[in-house]
Amino acid sequence: MSSAPAPDILTLTLNPALDLLTTVERVQPTHKLRCGPALFHPGGGGVNVARVVHRLGAGVRALYTEGGATGRELRALLDQEGVPCEGLPIVAPTRESLSVHETSSGLDWRFVLPGPTLLPAEWAACEQRFVQCGATAGHWVLSGSLPPGVPDDFYARLARQARLQGRRLVLDASGAALGAALAEGVYLVKPSLRELSEHLGRPLDDEPACLAAARQLIDQGQAEIVALTLGERGALLVSARQAWRAPALSVPVASTIGAGDSFVGGLVWALARQDDLEQALRLAMAASAAALLSEGTALCQPAEVQRLRAQVRLEAL
Ligand SMILES: Nc1ncnc2c1ncn2[C@@H]1O[C@H](COP(=O)(O)OP(=O)(O)OP(=O)(O)O)[C@@H](O)[C@H]1O
Ligand SMILES: [Mg+2]
Repeated sequence: MSSAPAPDILTLTLNPALDLLTTVERVQPTHKLRCGPALFHPGGGGVNVARVVHRLGAGVRALYTEGGATGRELRALLDQEGVPCEGLPIVAPTRESLSVHETSSGLDWRFVLPGPTLLPAEWAACEQRFVQCGATAGHWVLSGSLPPGVPDDFYARLARQARLQGRRLVLDASGAALGAALAEGVYLVKPSLRELSEHLGRPLDDEPACLAAARQLIDQGQAEIVALTLGERGALLVSARQAWRAPALSVPVASTIGAGDSFVGGLVWALARQDDLEQALRLAMAASAAALLSEGTALCQPAEVQRLRAQVRLEAL
């Protein structure tokens, strides 16, 4: 048996993906699109967060569903990166996602499949195993979409468990799964502008509207901390007592894929080492900017995160 301490960060990915990345000169119909070489990465919200946390050098464990040959390949890639992980068996094969970088325009085309349908016994086993492993982890990260077959209140059920067991639940989700978990209450939620606007059913056109939206979640007990990411406009971090604006760093953008996952990875890495919120936001901004430097699904490099951290300027609101 290993004597290593249990990791403080546990991530769950119910709908991971084997990410296939390639290039093409121009995306167009009918004709065969002759692509460049294929690159494979492990993918899915919680898987990516775990990859980032591991690179930054903290104890983490990624739980994810694993099915078929694609699931085995995903596992092999995580093993190659040395990310501590556990595949939760499912019958149907893990999905693949295709990202195509169009060299003529610099645009990324992302083709995302719904993922395999989970049987009731499968998602119930995932929930049980996550709670079991979570007994020794201070931070529970739930990130990514729910695959077909999984009820919308899946994250909400874990939010309830987290509260009962005094764990910090960090949520990056959208749609009905986000709504149900917020109704239960979480420690930290990281919506993008689009996700929060959809959740509240109103446009968030300017900073006062964004701040009011974040404060609404906090006042209603839906989240203790809201990290609202605004793409090229940066991010806002709001708690009951404090709020900061973080303008985006100006870096050459190779790809925005994985920026949100790197943001969450940086944030939770810092929180787990008991940095204060301000330092955690700094790290999250640096990690998300670092992700922009690398092509496709490659995510941030630790040396870039440390370099960019010094460039982050926060403004208290
Ligand atoms: N074009 C960009 N220029 C500079 N920084 C960016 C850019 N896009 C993203 N970022 C950084 O990455 C963070 C996360 O990006 P974003 O708000 O798009 O979230 P996301 O989770 O990737 O979005 P979604 O889940 O809706 O696809 C931002 O807060 C910002 O720091
Ligand atoms: Mg996101």
